[in-house]
Amino acid sequence: MVRKGGVARRRCLVPLVAGALFFVAFCYLTLSADTRLALGLGGGAEDSEELSHHGLDGMNFRPLNETVHICSESYEDRRQFMQDKPQSEYGQLPVIYFVTPTYPRREQIPELTRLAHTLLHVPRLHWLVADDQEKCNGFMDTLLYRFGIPFTHMVSPMPSKFRNEKPAPRGVANRRAALQWLRQHNLTNGILYFGDDDNTYDLRLFSEIRKTQRVSMFPVGLIADYGVSGPVVRKGKVVAFLDSWVAGRRWPVDMAGFAVNLEYMAQYPYVNMPYKPGYEEDLFLRSIGLQMNLIEPRGNNCTEILVWHTQTKSKKLGMVRLESKYLDDRSNLGALLHNLKLMGVASTTESEGRDALISKNGKEKPHSKILS
Ligand code: UGA
Ligand code: MN
Repeated sequence: MVRKGGVARRRCLVPLVAGALFFVAFCYLTLSADTRLALGLGGGAEDSEELSHHGLDGMNFRPLNETVHICSESYEDRRQFMQDKPQSEYGQLPVIYFVTPTYPRREQIPELTRLAHTLLHVPRLHWLVADDQEKCNGFMDTLLYRFGIPFTHMVSPMPSKFRNEKPAPRGVANRRAALQWLRQHNLTNGILYFGDDDNTYDLRLFSEIRKTQRVSMFPVGLIADYGVSGPVVRKGKVVAFLDSWVAGRRWPVDMAGFAVNLEYMAQYPYVNMPYKPGYEEDLFLRSIGLQMNLIEPRGNNCTEILVWHTQTKSKKLGMVRLESKYLDDRSNLGALLHNLKLMGVASTTESEGRDALISKNGKEKPHSKILS
């Protein structure tokens, strides 16, 4: 009885199970490769072949869940004129959310100052500055506020497990925090651009990216071996990419080489930038379901360079050996060196290295002679 019943039940189950399997297979095959990837289901045939080789096929996109720690922010645009026009003339242009990852080092404040002086010319821009450290740098709050550009200053330290990796995922925790901020504010109007603190931006870049309907792309100068990275365009359409490092990347572009419309991005709940050095751009663009035919080429059909991947030579912190009794208001040196310390540029010491050189008429003088 039991056996018979079992067989009978199995007979009934067979078509059911087969039907269910057929349904699952049908759904899987009808989803586009990008949707499958975004859902963490693995890519298409082309993907699995290329990506498994690079360990990318197991990428599992989940909604971001970052903690956003705001240091200070200002939504007020205190600039009166931009490019010789009063602020009011820029009316309702879509806002550019310019995301700048940054990290403490001797060059940080100079880089941000230079970048700010470019951004000062750009109307309708909100500057998201995400600092790769635990604590808010008060000096930076003051600096950012002084420019009068609307901004949000946040801290977003790289998780410690990645710190000693080589290469480390630079600027990723920062960009993830900025993406989370955009999500939290439910922003579906405006343009997202990832602008590192050390690049060089042509003002024409901003009017170009502001037109972005979904995803726009353009060449970046000074990248790797070819001195350039960017799309190949034929008959006004992006058809391929020129970049000296492909490594299985479907979108072999630099972080500064694309912009995204927030309305488009809002359709993808799994927007993400995994901690995978070298693949940040590619995986981010996959997470928002990019397709070749959606890409809008900019910069006169990708013939011009509107952004340069300049890199600043980095040096370790300066060290000035000076007796602390002279760091008072008898001279400027106390305040000057204090400021440089706040900026993370130089420190003072009483014991390390050689005495600071202070000279007059071409001759070194004892500190006591000038400072007491
Ligand atoms: C290149 C690309 O242009 C970057 O977009 C990409 O993030 C980076 O490689 C990478 O994948 O590592 P590159 O000039 O080599 O950029 O890198 P950096 O300029 O040193 O760093 C990129 C951004 O991350 C900068 O804005 C930098 O301030 C920030 N960063 C760097 C951190 O926030 N933390 C770090 O420890 C290092
Ligand atoms: Mn850089």
